[in-house]
Amino acid sequence: MSATATEQNTQVRIATIGSVDDGKSTLIGRLLHDSKGIFEDQLSAVSKASRRYGDGSFNLALLTDGLRAEREQGITIDVAYRYFATPKRSFVLADTPGHAQFTRNMVTGASVSDIAIVLVDARHGVVEQTRRHVSIAALLGVSHLILAVNKMDLVEWSESAFDEVVTDVAEILTTLESSVPLHAIPICATDGQNVVEKSVEASWYQGPSVLDLLETLDVAPVPTVGARLAVQWTLREHGGSDYRGYAGRLEGGVLRVGDAVTVHPKGNTSVVTGLTRAGSPTEIAVPGDAIAIELADDLDVGKFDVIVASAAVQPLDATNIVADVCWLVDTELKVGDSLIVRHPSGEAHGKVARILHRLDLDTLKNSSTDTLVLNDIARVAIQLKTPLVVDAYNSNRVGGSAIAIDPVTNATIGALMVVGQEDDRSLTPTKKASSTTTSPKKGVRGFVKDFFTLKVNEEF
Ligand code: GTP
Ligand code: MG
Repeated sequence: MSATATEQNTQVRIATIGSVDDGKSTLIGRLLHDSKGIFEDQLSAVSKASRRYGDGSFNLALLTDGLRAEREQGITIDVAYRYFATPKRSFVLADTPGHAQFTRNMVTGASVSDIAIVLVDARHGVVEQTRRHVSIAALLGVSHLILAVNKMDLVEWSESAFDEVVTDVAEILTTLESSVPLHAIPICATDGQNVVEKSVEASWYQGPSVLDLLETLDVAPVPTVGARLAVQWTLREHGGSDYRGYAGRLEGGVLRVGDAVTVHPKGNTSVVTGLTRAGSPTEIAVPGDAIAIELADDLDVGKFDVIVASAAVQPLDATNIVADVCWLVDTELKVGDSLIVRHPSGEAHGKVARILHRLDLDTLKNSSTDTLVLNDIARVAIQLKTPLVVDAYNSNRVGGSAIAIDPVTNATIGALMVVGQEDDRSLTPTKKASSTTTSPKKGVRGFVKDFFTLKVNEEF
């Protein structure tokens, strides 16, 4: 059985984001160190690595910079995951690279996170990469953004330097029309002030430390679109039984025996007569459960059809999807280009019908363009050959996310967040659920998780 809402609220996923060298890895190292989340052998491995790769002083960034290439260059390349716990909560920390070249790793890390900590070097203030990362985090629907204005020691803990960064980041969110709550803290990641312990030098700041916030911010998932299951395979019993179970992972809401369901994209309806979880019958299944569903009627249901509770918000059976895209490769994207859209409900070949607009990272305004280049954030319309059963990303992070694949090389070329379909004027799903509400952003987590390989740096 999957985690309950309370358990999920006590396990929090965090991503550190921001420009190169702003101190993301050092902050995570400091959090682990000061909250006693490091084992002795890891500490001695970091001491050893500090002597080998640095000037000899203890380098906390090496706790997450696990790969040899990262250590040698002093940057993070991969997404490094670290786990730690305090008496109040447990945490999964994703340390993502700041370098623009690795934006896809940042998207991967932030996509499964409840909280993003954006680091800004107090000396340099907001730079283009800060704007890009904040924009992506807002787009990906994190629940909270903690702004850690770092290296305050290098600006003599100047309150006005801090205020300037806070104003700039707040302005980014306003311009993006994002409602993600912003929490700003002045910190020094190297000596740990306001990370776990309070600052001794910033008498003007009386707010919480980074850990205080991580332990208390509300990240509880709220009810989302309602139950849906993308069928992965059909289970049959040998020996004459006419048992047929449609198996997959339940997302979006609770499903019970007796619930009326609609099978997308065909639109047939039936009633749930049986649910099986881990080989045993059950009356109720919750999001995250791997289950098999039996239906009252003998319907034509196959792999990638989606069984949806009829009372839920119904997904779109879309052949013209409109999506926000983060373009992840050097190859340009142009109108007319072919691509494959891979989504939990299946895969469809398609063509870029239009590039509606691109986000200009200087002005944070939408501008028109004919091509997308590496790291662009844009809105595109894609014409599919066969329909995909999708949700809007802001109502369901799993059903609303997809990746674009190059049909020739099979490489992942873009991360997609579905906005709606082009011929749907409202660009939102059609039917409201009677007992569920749609939530902007806090849906089932896991965008891209199932598609990208999440590498964990275990090398110490
Ligand atoms: P990438 O992973 O390459 O994006 O960098 P990063 O954001 O992880 O930065 P990292 O933690 O590797 O820190 C970069 C440099 O800044 C290191 O030399 C740190 O020791 C230094 N640094 C980090 N935080 C502070 C701070 O609060 N004060 C000072 N003076 N230096 C800091
Ligand atoms: Mg780093």
